[in-house]
Amino acid sequence: MDVHVSLVGRRDLAGQIYRQLRAAILDGRLRAGEALPPTRELAARLEISRNTVAVAYDRLAAEGFLESRVGAGTFVRETGSAARGAPAASPLRPRRGWDGLDLWPAPMPGVTWDFRAGLPDVRLFPYEAWRRIMAGLLRPSALAGAGSAGDPAGLPELRAAIARHAGVTRSVRAGARDVVVTAGVQQALDLIVRVLLEPGDTVAVEDPGYPPARMLFEAAGMRVRGVPVDAEGLRVDALPDAARAVYVTPSHQFPLGMPMSLPRRRALLDWARRREVVIVEDDYDTEYRYGGRPIEPLQSLDADGRVLYTGTFSKIMRPVLRLGFLVAPPSLHHAFRMARYVSSWHAEVPAQAALARFIDEGLLARHIRRSRREYEARHRRVAELVGEWFGDRLALVPSAAGLHLSARLTDGADDAELARRALDAGVGLYALSEFAVTGPPVRGLVLGYGAVAPPEIEAGLRRLRDVIARPA
Ligand SMILES: Cc1ncc(COP(=O)(O)O)c(C=O)c1O
Repeated sequence: MDVHVSLVGRRDLAGQIYRQLRAAILDGRLRAGEALPPTRELAARLEISRNTVAVAYDRLAAEGFLESRVGAGTFVRETGSAARGAPAASPLRPRRGWDGLDLWPAPMPGVTWDFRAGLPDVRLFPYEAWRRIMAGLLRPSALAGAGSAGDPAGLPELRAAIARHAGVTRSVRAGARDVVVTAGVQQALDLIVRVLLEPGDTVAVEDPGYPPARMLFEAAGMRVRGVPVDAEGLRVDALPDAARAVYVTPSHQFPLGMPMSLPRRRALLDWARRREVVIVEDDYDTEYRYGGRPIEPLQSLDADGRVLYTGTFSKIMRPVLRLGFLVAPPSLHHAFRMARYVSSWHAEVPAQAALARFIDEGLLARHIRRSRREYEARHRRVAELVGEWFGDRLALVPSAAGLHLSARLTDGADDAELARRALDAGVGLYALSEFAVTGPPVRGLVLGYGAVAPPEIEAGLRRLRDVIARPA
């Protein structure tokens, strides 16, 4: 351990070293078993005689703090008092709002059937291909062209690959220059807030809606207003006059699951144009559509340049990769590049390069085709079983996309209480009421099938049926 020792003046040098090392051991910075630097090395670093360091070490050894092992060096001994001293109480407090936030999703350790929405199946990830590409990139020669720092907006080849991918799979109109590589949708939203909004601005979100987006807007000092959704998606007639931005999930409303109808999408664009409002389109799982007409994103219907479009690789790859993107009009290119730069410079370069190759070699398209078949089968199975086993109490929201299905409780039962009981029985899922923003909660259950393989879907839903059938 390269422990920090500093000397003042030339007096009592051994005593100074002794006291600093003793303090480091007592407050836990140096832990039992850690090696101290050899006396010769520490002496050279401090420009003093080796003997002075040896005197300090001998004293610490005599007091039981250190032990020497012949041929191995000097080590910190177990003193029994190494609990780190509590840091001084601080008067510093976070700005209003931070203490009220909590992690979402809350951890659910030890569930047997994890039906939480939004989780992809880690077993479907194309590890072999990803490993091969990564291994090729982690060589000195492979990233030589990347220089000492990347472009804040992203690796050029990845921006180009994303523009093509989004164009082909979602008919998004974008060139490489319009794309900013982000750490998921979440960072895209953060950049949008920084570049376009002021604290105190009103942001309209869908109600029920996606909690991390709401939390981000609140943490940045925005006023968040929930806007009800109906079978056609966000109710444009209920948007608040004060809104400066509207955050929507039109391809697959989160969490209910229906797409926004075409007339509604047109009405939203029209409303935004008249009010000069920014539309933030979160297209988080559009690659997984199971039939039905493809949904045109707001971004491609927009003739006015007021839609900021964001997508993610969290669902088609894995959320832990933290890779997503933002598509912005040219008037915002410079600001977004700078916002990305001041926030964390740029996304990790090897991962960006790997993803670019993954897309360019056609591997992403193949992975999407395969995983779509798998998820579609699960989607169908969950829908069948919910109809068969829960039809008297749960009404599925029609949906043909994504990694989850939602169902409303038709008898007004307490969904949070059902979800708690399900968890006790080993079934992890969300209650729909968890997603309420400012309006009255919709009651129901969200059934994610991304992380539950088909035989387990049946077992898990059977267990859920037992829980629901039992009176509270
Ligand atoms: C509505 C919505 N947006 C975005 C995401 C993904 O966000 P990120 O790209 O930050 O992982 C999710 C994931 O569950 C989601 O449900």
